[in-house]
Amino acid sequence: MRIGLVGAGKIGQLRARSVIEDPSTTLAAVFDLSADLARQAAARSGAKVCSSLEELLGVPLDAVIVSTPVHVHLDACLQAFGRGLHVLCEKPVANSVADTQRIVDAARTAKKALAVGFNLRYYPAIRYIRETIAAGSIGTVDHFRIFGGHDGLGSFTHDWEYKTPLTGGGAMWDIGIHMTDLARHFLGEITEVYGVMSGNVWRVPGSEDNAIAVFRNPQGIAASYQATWDEWKGYGFSIEAYGDKGMVRGAYAPMQNLLITHQNPRGPRTRKLLRYPEIAVREKIFSWKSTALLSFKDELRDFVGLTEGKRDVVIADGYAGLRAVEVAAAVKSSTETGLAVRLENLGRMTP
Ligand SMILES: NC(=O)c1ccc[n+]([C@@H]2O[C@H](COP(=O)([O-])OP(=O)(O)OC[C@H]3O[C@@H](n4cnc5c(N)ncnc54)[C@H](O)[C@@H]3O)[C@@H](O)[C@H]2O)c1
Repeated sequence: MRIGLVGAGKIGQLRARSVIEDPSTTLAAVFDLSADLARQAAARSGAKVCSSLEELLGVPLDAVIVSTPVHVHLDACLQAFGRGLHVLCEKPVANSVADTQRIVDAARTAKKALAVGFNLRYYPAIRYIRETIAAGSIGTVDHFRIFGGHDGLGSFTHDWEYKTPLTGGGAMWDIGIHMTDLARHFLGEITEVYGVMSGNVWRVPGSEDNAIAVFRNPQGIAASYQATWDEWKGYGFSIEAYGDKGMVRGAYAPMQNLLITHQNPRGPRTRKLLRYPEIAVREKIFSWKSTALLSFKDELRDFVGLTEGKRDVVIADGYAGLRAVEVAAAVKSSTETGLAVRLENLGRMTP
């Protein structure tokens, strides 16, 4: 698969490496407003360094990875679908429901795959939750508890990362968009949303500091949810699934799992803690980027599979990207009205 990369910043450099190091993909072209960053991403790959999106789209390609700031996704995605290419777009897909819908519609019209960079699905702690639930180890799932946060504006390098309307919103559009996707990943779908946003700390107009919500799936299973920029303990996320035979927790950073099981709720419990020391050591030397890179490699393999029509893939499709943005908008609307918001069951998006 010949891939063009649009946006070669912090994430784009890792995306470039994932493409270069995958034997089934070739980095064919790179475009970034910074020629230096484009050259750096293309280094030793033979990729053409382009000075415009048009020039990149003129190179023979099968797919494009979009890792520009969020407000640039729309144009890059629409143009790529217009040329009949598959797209892997960084999260969030766009900064509004309407623009995300336009990108989804363009993918459907082009009959090409749209995938979204919800790479946390590939983190070992998240995989472990998926496998534990599938194996029946915690029995019938009753509910989920989902949290993601960091300490807010000090964690950002650029204005576009936190200022509405460029971003779409605050914590829910940043780390929270990953958590919303993981909620849907485990619930299957989110069809009901009640939430309350607040913004008494950073006071960025239109960008919430904090969102607390309840999501429900079509079967009535609930997830409690919090996305926040007021997590003074620093960056971290956790997902907990509770069933009639126990619970499983996945968390990062550091990567950890906890599994507690019992045969009946009054009986004795067994406890297993997984600490992933090899990841801790690797991150000490090569930083969190080494973990992100591994997840991007897994995601890329799934992206190639998705374009080939494979259905047993973990990758987030365009509907996952759309629902994550719709949920963020629903929590805002719920905050304003005090009412729950109902959403249709989107299911799976097929190219
Ligand atoms: N999956 C994840 O875990 C994760 C983590 C962080 C960021 N992101 C997402 O990745 C994307 C990029 O974030 P980043 O942290 O790499 O930002 P960044 O600022 O480091 O990189 C963005 C790059 O895009 C380039 N750019 C800007 N406008 C452009 C345009 N019109 N055409 C071409 N290039 C352009 C910039 O020059 C810059 O090099 C965003 O969508 C962000 O939300 C994802």
